[in-house]
Amino acid sequence: MKILNIETSCDDTAISIFEVKGGTTNASFKVLANNSNSQINIHIPYGGVYPVLAKKEHTKNLPILLEASLKQAKLDRKKKPVDAIAVTYGPGLEMCLWEGIIFTKELSKKWGVPVIPTNHMEGHIFSVFGKHKGKFIIPKIKAPMLSLLVSGGHTQLVLTKKWMDYEIVGETLDDAVGEAFDKVARMLDLPYPGGPQISKMAEIERKHFKESEKIGFSFSLPRPMLHTKDFNFSFSGLKTAVLYLIKKIAPDGKLDDKTKSAIALEFENAAIECLVRKTKKAVEKYGVKTLIVAGGVAANKHLRNEMKKVTGNKIKLLFPTQELSGDNSLMIGIAGYLNYIKNKKKVPKPASIKATGNLRL
Ligand code: KG4
Ligand code: ZN
Repeated sequence: MKILNIETSCDDTAISIFEVKGGTTNASFKVLANNSNSQINIHIPYGGVYPVLAKKEHTKNLPILLEASLKQAKLDRKKKPVDAIAVTYGPGLEMCLWEGIIFTKELSKKWGVPVIPTNHMEGHIFSVFGKHKGKFIIPKIKAPMLSLLVSGGHTQLVLTKKWMDYEIVGETLDDAVGEAFDKVARMLDLPYPGGPQISKMAEIERKHFKESEKIGFSFSLPRPMLHTKDFNFSFSGLKTAVLYLIKKIAPDGKLDDKTKSAIALEFENAAIECLVRKTKKAVEKYGVKTLIVAGGVAANKHLRNEMKKVTGNKIKLLFPTQELSGDNSLMIGIAGYLNYIKNKKKVPKPASIKATGNLRL
């Protein structure tokens, strides 16, 4: 069957179409079209996502991306081009989620096809199986599986003992790790989104850092909750520690590039150490055989390298490709289809589907 996939939970408008067959553990996909529009340039002046503007951009971009995708897939919009539509209904910014949902409901009515409401976080989990274009399959996965989901809004450790069953065993008690990256980047005067900027700076600094070159001061940032017995995280204190550090080093707020790089490196080391330590503990406690690391922050190279040390050769470690680390519609389609099959093609009436900003797994 062919599925149209729609994602508008934050600042990316994304539409894709794929052809899929098979069951929940052996589905095979062929990507027919994949298009998205990032709003980064629009939000840069605000230093973060401005929800009203994001909503407007989704309204403008959805019909354009649909047109482009149908053309790319060589499908005729007048002749029921797909068999179902998967759409994100949460979690995310509600006014943005609604844009995708309303657009989907109109198409569903016009074409007479079912709507599959899909959880964005489940999408991130399945993003590790996807490919931006071409064909891919869902491989056999050994349980227990643990997913570390790290994005701008979430930091969660999710345990899967039974396929497509989720138990959140740990999560952040305050800021998400991506949010902390973005806020620290702002303190360092780096443009939004800050995660990639900090990680680029830290990467260069890590290569060049030599003890002998220490720049007249030394500092270390805290690793909140590193030694607590649970699997929870906290990033708000780390972010505040950076603020105080900057005030101490440069009371006038003016930091030179060398100092900025040193702060970026120490912040990244601290944040990633927290993620890695808690994941390692959960891997050991639950006897995890498959570890998934997904969400925007999964693009971070240091996180990827450190996670490889946790799993070694014995545990299967899966990351999304760089293209599928951030928000995309393909992951929504994968999660949507697998749930559609799991629920024996039973879907709610489109009219009952509502944006749910704080949807949980
Ligand atoms: O999953 P995502 O694209 O959107 C949400 O669902 O939130 O995640 C976006 C987050 C942003 O906070 C961004 O700064 C962060 O992922 N991010 C990174 C990197 N690339 C993106 N954080 C650290 N290192 C990166 N390389
Ligand atoms: Zn996301």
